[in-house]
Amino acid sequence: MEKKEQLYEGKAKKVFATDDPDLLIVQYKDDATAFNGLKKGTIAGKGIINNQMSNRLMLLLEKQAIPTHFVRELNERETLVKKVRIVPLEVIVRNIAAGSFSKHYGVEEGVVFDKPTIEFSYKNDALGDPLLNFHHALALKVATYRELRTIERYAMRINGILQEFWAACGVTLVDFKMEFGRIADGSIVLADEISPDTCRLWDSNTHEKLDKDRFRRDLGGIEEAYAEIMRRLEEHL
Ligand code: TMP
Ligand code: ASP
Repeated sequence: MEKKEQLYEGKAKKVFATDDPDLLIVQYKDDATAFNGLKKGTIAGKGIINNQMSNRLMLLLEKQAIPTHFVRELNERETLVKKVRIVPLEVIVRNIAAGSFSKHYGVEEGVVFDKPTIEFSYKNDALGDPLLNFHHALALKVATYRELRTIERYAMRINGILQEFWAACGVTLVDFKMEFGRIADGSIVLADEISPDTCRLWDSNTHEKLDKDRFRRDLGGIEEAYAEIMRRLEEHL
């Protein structure tokens, strides 16, 4: 597979064209940002961990009939993926109150929900990724009714699969963010990444944070936390 011109550079990844119009190469960087890019830093080795973790988790999901963009890992930092037309939504599933949910609704971090909750944000940096509901998403024509229902259904199933997987690793999946896209035939697949950048992962016993909140909140021990969560994954996958 030949790597061709760079198409896009995001905050944490670069995307390259290939000689196949339906396939792209994503390259994971060590750069980290928070608060819509206001806070910048690097987390040494993050790109390698996020690439490998995301790929293994997507394979696990594929085995359970969740379609994803994953095709093949090329090297430590690069993966071949299906080209998608991204649905400009951040789809967030939460099992435990934390982060913006706690802030918006005045719920203490750590309160466990009876059932998972789901929310959408409009993926638009200029607007600061505002929250939006199903009807807003339809009004903005970001996706059709059927696509949104499919996305919700996949998101909840993905949550169940990942919750169970992480529980076996002694890790609680607090919440996480997904992005979905349409492949060439128009069907919806899970895209982007699933990594400690996009999930809140707490040690089940100590509740120690093993994710990007260590960077967002200046908690220190960031590289160690990423290495620890990767070690737990490798023990079980
Ligand atoms: P939040 O509580 O800040 O809304 O974050 C919810 C989840 O989404 C959390 O696991 C971190 C993840 N997330 C991203 O992946 N990208 C983002 O830009 C933000 C704000 C959160
Ligand atoms: N990636 C996001 C940004 O830079 C924020 C985050 O993950 O908290 O804005």
